[in-house]
Amino acid sequence: MGGRRALIAGNWKMYGRRAALAEIPAVAERIGAAGERLDVLICPPFPLIPLAAEAAEGGPVLVGAQDCAANPADAAQTGDVNAAMLADAGAGYVILGHSERRTLRGEADALVREKTSAALAAGLAPIVCVGETREQRAAGQAGAVVAAQLAGSIPDEAPAALVVAYEPVWAIGGDRTPSLEEIADIHALIRAELTGRFGTAKAEAMRILYGGSVNAKNAGEIFRVANVDGALVGRASLNAADFAAIILAHPAA
Ligand code: PGA
Repeated sequence: MGGRRALIAGNWKMYGRRAALAEIPAVAERIGAAGERLDVLICPPFPLIPLAAEAAEGGPVLVGAQDCAANPADAAQTGDVNAAMLADAGAGYVILGHSERRTLRGEADALVREKTSAALAAGLAPIVCVGETREQRAAGQAGAVVAAQLAGSIPDEAPAALVVAYEPVWAIGGDRTPSLEEIADIHALIRAELTGRFGTAKAEAMRILYGGSVNAKNAGEIFRVANVDGALVGRASLNAADFAAIILAHPAA
């Protein structure tokens, strides 16, 4: 964990209506003073972001988005949302290059890198997602795939506030997670890649999250793996009881 402040981030994906915003104060209430000792983030779908920011006001829960346009400027781009708009709506973070966007929307490293630059220009902290498929792991390519995604997706100007999320594609949305050794290996590799590129001081300050089927049962042991600075949580972030239990499983809580 180093000197890094833990970050437990919830990714609501394409779930949630206004009624779901009640989960935000409920999380705050359940985690109590632990909210002062680590960072808690919820990333709802776009329409809920300003409302989530209102629901979170004055409490420990931060609000983020799940994507942004590569173009940082306002433009005639029907259907797109730029990073400055997200910041204006109350977001402080944005998830980029999630495997669902890489797969369903064909986002490649170069586009993720452009989006990451756009997020940084707007003052958002990007959470850049990387991770191998089941086939790539079986072929012994997990490390090489993750290293290539990092190199391609993170721009040269990345600051210490940039967050990396290691999410093995085969662990998302199911009930399988890598072994703690496998998580440790990839997180060490990510730290080494960041160090090689950005130097020790910056790389040691960057947070690396694990994501993929994190739940209240497995979170505690995952959080104790070296170089795991928190989690990116999908399903279990949708209700306050499950998400708070994960947050409270962190040793810093
Ligand atoms: P999951 O999703 O926790 O539901 O596996 C994680 C993610 O996709 O960020």
